[in-house]
Amino acid sequence: MTTPTPHNSAKSGEIANTVLMPGDPMRAKYIAENFIENPRLVNNVRGIQGYTGTWKNTEVTVMASGMGIPSIGIYSWELFNSYDVDNIIRIGTAGAISDELELNDVIFALGACTDSNFMNQFKLPGAFAPICDYKLLKAAERAASRLGIEPVVGNILSTDVFHADDPADTDAWRKMGVLAVEMEAAGLYANAARSGKRALAICTVSDHLYRPEKLSPEEREKSLTQMINIALDTAVMIEGETK
Ligand code: HPA
Repeated sequence: MTTPTPHNSAKSGEIANTVLMPGDPMRAKYIAENFIENPRLVNNVRGIQGYTGTWKNTEVTVMASGMGIPSIGIYSWELFNSYDVDNIIRIGTAGAISDELELNDVIFALGACTDSNFMNQFKLPGAFAPICDYKLLKAAERAASRLGIEPVVGNILSTDVFHADDPADTDAWRKMGVLAVEMEAAGLYANAARSGKRALAICTVSDHLYRPEKLSPEEREKSLTQMINIALDTAVMIEGETK
């Protein structure tokens, strides 16, 4: 598919090789306005704001994914295949299900299980294991370490259902050591794999599904700042390594 696409009005060349993807378009705007130098709005179709600018002299784009695998599926596919983007770093929030996790913890999603049917399109003769890119993961670990942040690295669940009819649906995933629940990473990882590109999902724990804990708006802002800094520094490192 050529550019612009039905969902993205950016012309080719207007999107950087590495894209940070928060779910929320207002978060994309916030990052553009508070972190990125010389941000230019390159997409606003359906309010899915995308900005391109620089961070530490490296060009980056921050563009929203919307919520859920179908939404990130559309945008990530077009970024990888129409805009020739090499790296997508999702930055989002997740609800913890593991007892080991605390609010504000930063998770690097090594793998992303899913209850979605998204993988069926690939007609695999078994179950696909959606995993992050190792190079991006290593770069993110280095970036976090320099910022004095220790991430929790492991498996997450990308679910299609936020308001589950039966809240006990996560019990079985919890028994398998899955750390937390969000709604996008598995679709992003599958599209990266199919496109021969790189992806990593970084999530901040915003609430706990088994304890009555939730970040306040001020705490949310502060912890998201940590994650945004890690992701932006990771973009610089991966661009330096793969040029
Ligand atoms: N479910 C799905 N996604 C989420 C949650 C949740 O409980 N919390 C933050 N993102």
